[in-house]
Formats: sequence, structure tokens, C-alpha cells
Amino acid sequence: MEQITKILEFSNEISILEISYLLASILFILGLKKLSHPATARSGNLWAAAGMAAAIVFTILFHKTKVMLPDGTVEFKGIGNILWIVIALAIGSFVGWYASIKVKMTAMPQMVSIFNGMGGACAALISLMEFPKMQNILASEGAATMLNGEGIAILLGLMIGGVSFAGSMIAFGKLDGRIGDIKHPILRVVNLSFLVVLLVALVVILFMQPVVDNNWPIYLFAVAALIYGVTFVMPIGGADMPVVISLLNSFTGVAAAMGGFLYGNQAMLTGGILVGSSGTILTILMCKAMNRSLLNVIIGAFGVAAEGGAEASDKTVKEISLSDAAVLLSYSQKVYIVPGYGLAVAQAQHLCHELDNLLASKGVEVKYAIHPVAGRMPGHMNVLLAEADVPYEKLVEMEDANNEMNNTDVVIVIGANDVVNPAAEDDPSSPIYGMPIIKALDAKNIIVMKRSMAAGYAAIPNNLFYHPKNRMLFGDAKATLQKLVAEIKSL
Ligand code: TAP
Repeated sequence: MEQITKILEFSNEISILEISYLLASILFILGLKKLSHPATARSGNLWAAAGMAAAIVFTILFHKTKVMLPDGTVEFKGIGNILWIVIALAIGSFVGWYASIKVKMTAMPQMVSIFNGMGGACAALISLMEFPKMQNILASEGAATMLNGEGIAILLGLMIGGVSFAGSMIAFGKLDGRIGDIKHPILRVVNLSFLVVLLVALVVILFMQPVVDNNWPIYLFAVAALIYGVTFVMPIGGADMPVVISLLNSFTGVAAAMGGFLYGNQAMLTGGILVGSSGTILTILMCKAMNRSLLNVIIGAFGVAAEGGAEASDKTVKEISLSDAAVLLSYSQKVYIVPGYGLAVAQAQHLCHELDNLLASKGVEVKYAIHPVAGRMPGHMNVLLAEADVPYEKLVEMEDANNEMNNTDVVIVIGANDVVNPAAEDDPSSPIYGMPIIKALDAKNIIVMKRSMAAGYAAIPNNLFYHPKNRMLFGDAKATLQKLVAEIKSL
């Protein structure tokens, strides 16, 4: 009777745990759905976080491990080391909270890279811990190989998680300007060879005979995965980082899903699959936006193209005064604003919206042309402009905006550079050749607001600045917009 009660008790707890995982999965999916629109993104984030919190709390409270006692009876043990778990959770939560309140909007991609890398590291550590356990169990059972579902999940989790961790750390260093690009065609061969070595090693380990306490193959495998992560991201640079960041993101999701398979944990599995699949979709969209093939990303062939970009230093640029710019804009019928990374640096989004409202009050039609990789992270400009309450309907996707450029009176490029660089269309030697751009040159007049003639992220000159249609309005975007708004008000 006592035993029956115990079993009922156990199945009751199992079902509570499973229901909590189902609830967490639903919250992840709803959260992800809400993340797809700026107006609901904030609450989507909270919903998904609530799902994760529920999964953690319920796992701590209700997870049981089946233990076979020496007398042959089975016991179900709850989670141990609660104090350590709580301490780790407290430290992790504090670091995450502190980092997110301190981080500057322009440093978000770096933070995303670090957090993504931590996810990959967790998945890899799970594999490193579970491999010896599996190996010992299989050895005691006299198994001939380690070829089973758990073995595959462990090795894939370690390989993908390790690559994601090391790659994300290199991506962080590059985005933060601490690490330069190492571009050499030989790296293409090195990368491909490393990938082949990793896959062969994975198969070899699976077919090895499990031997108690013989863990060196898994440690060697982990080191190889880390090295591949480094060599994979090292040659990628210039304007191509967005693609690799979303790819690494999807890697982390897949690695976490492997942990979900291993533990039969539905919340971990759903979370991992959602991150993996959404990261993959984003990667494909980014590839399309950058006009790159996914194979090129995987073998790290980006940026290997000859450093190009038409030399522009001997040409002269025309400037426009604030009063001329104010008159030109006020008497236009249609104006397109092209925001870029510099708008985020200057934190001039509110002034940008003020300029837009002011012109609209004068009967000017104002819209924003949004390039998919403007800024430093996917959706950067959408988030930035949403923060300043710019109505979402005013944000026009690149292709649609380009269709309207011919009948646009003025394009104001604010802190953007690479995304309007005509070299992407007319200079085959340029590293950004083939990337779709906002076709500012098709408009009747162009005003570029930036501080100097300095290059953008891809570090190449921009001939748009020297075009007869273009006039430069030099200065920090915030200060210039402030003066421009005042000038228009005084007209
Ligand atoms: P960029 O090409 O990086 O150009 C930004 C320009 O803003 C610079 O030329 C800079 O010129 C100007 N600027 C900086 N601070 C400013 C300030 N306070 N006031 C006014 N101007 C300022 O930006 P973009 O056109 O947005 O292109 C994005 C680039 O980043 C692409 O190459 C893209 O591939 C890459 N990238 C994108 C992502 C994602 S996912 N979006 C991630 C990583 C990399 P001055 O110094 O002369 O002012």
C-alpha cells in the first residue's frame, strides 16, 4: 500500500512537472510571436522569461531521478545541491540584470554575443559532464560501442555548443573592436578541414568501446570544437558579421535542444528548437539581405574578397548650410529618412521623430527607409525608432522604399554609410559588392548627416558623398538635428 501511495505521489509530481514544461513551452511560443512586432516585443520578452522561470522553479521542486538501490529496490530522489543551485541562480541573475541595465544601446550586439556564447558553453558543459557518466554505465553493461541516441546528443551538444561559445567570444571581440579580421584564402581550407576532422572524430568516438574513466577523447573533441569556433569566425568581418551572429545564435539553440533530448526535458527541447529554428530563419533572411550564400558563411569565406572600394580621397564634397537644408526640406513634398548606426550612437532618434513631425505639419510626406542590416543588430533601427514612438507604418522596408526613390524630393541619410554605398552595386572589387542597398542616388536631392568623411563598419570609402546630387551636413547627428529643427521652426 505504502508503495502504491509512493508511485501515485511520484506520478502526480511527474505530471505537475510535465504540465509546467508544457506551460513554459506555450509561454516561449507566445513570447516569440509577440517579439515579432515592436509594439508587443517588450511583453513578449517578459512572457518568455516567465516561461523560463516556471521551468526552473518547477524542475527544482518536482524533478526526481530514478535510483536503483543495492538491494534491488528503486528510489526516486529529488534534486540535490539546492543551496549551490540557488547561489548560482542568484549570481547569474544579478550579472544578467546588471549587464542589461548598464549596457549602452550601441553595445547590445556585443552583449547578445556574450549571452549567446554562455548558452553554447552551458550546452557543452552538460555534454562534458554527462559523457563520463554514460561511458561508465555502458562500460559496466559491457556495451561494444557508444553508438546510441544519448551518445549522439552528447557529442552534437558538445560540438555545436563549443563552436557557438568560442565563435561568439570572437564575434564579441570583433564587434567591440578588440580583435581584427584575419583574412587569408588558406583559412577556407583550414576551416573546412577542421569541420571534417570534427565530424570524423564524432563518428570515431561513437564507435569506440566504452572504457571506465577513459575521458580523454571527449576532452580532445571539446578542444577541437573550440578551435573550430575560433577559426570559423576569425576571417569574417566587414559588413558580414550580422549573418554570423544569427548563425551562432541558431547553433546555441540546437546545442540546448540536444540537452533537452538527453534529459527528456520538454521545456529545454522546445526552447532550444525555437531558438535554433528562429536563428536559422533569421540567418537565411540575413543571407538574402546581404546577398550571400549560407555555404559561404559555414566555411567562413566572408571578407576574403580583395579589399576594395573606389578610391575617393582626391574628390571634393559639397556641403549644405543649415538654413539651405531647412528650406529644401520644408518645401519638399516627399522626404525619406535613411537611419543608420550613427543615429543610434548619437541617440538622436527622438530629434529625428521631432523633425519628421515638424515636416509633416508643413504638409511634407516623411517616411523612413529601413535597411535590414542598418545598425549593429537585426531590427536595430526598428527598435531605435520605436523607442522614439515613430509610428511603425512610417518604417518602409528597403525594397519598397527603393521603388519610391524616383519620386522622392530629398533623402536624408542620418548616420548611415555602408547601407547607402553605391559600391555594392557598381564596384565588383568592393567587399560589399552584391549587398542590396537603399538607392539614395535615385532621389532628387541627398543630404548626408555625419561627423566626418570617415568610413562605416565595412571600412570602405563611399562615393555617394562625392556625387553632385549629394550635400554633406557635418556634425554629430543629435546636435545637427537640434539645430535643423530650430532652423525649420524659425522659417
Ligand atoms: P555604418 O556603415 O557603420 O556607418 C555609420 C556611420 O555613422 C559612420 O560612417 C559614422 O561616420 C556615422 N556616425 C557615427 N557616429 C555618429 C554620430 N554621433 N553622429 C553622426 N554620424 C555618426 O552604418 P550603417 O550604414 O547603419 O551600416 C551598418 C553596417 O554594420 C553594415 O556594414 C552592416 O553589415 C554592419 N553590421 C550590421 C549588423 C546588423 S545585424 N545590423 C551587425 C554587425 C555589423 P562619422 O564617424 O564620420 O560620423
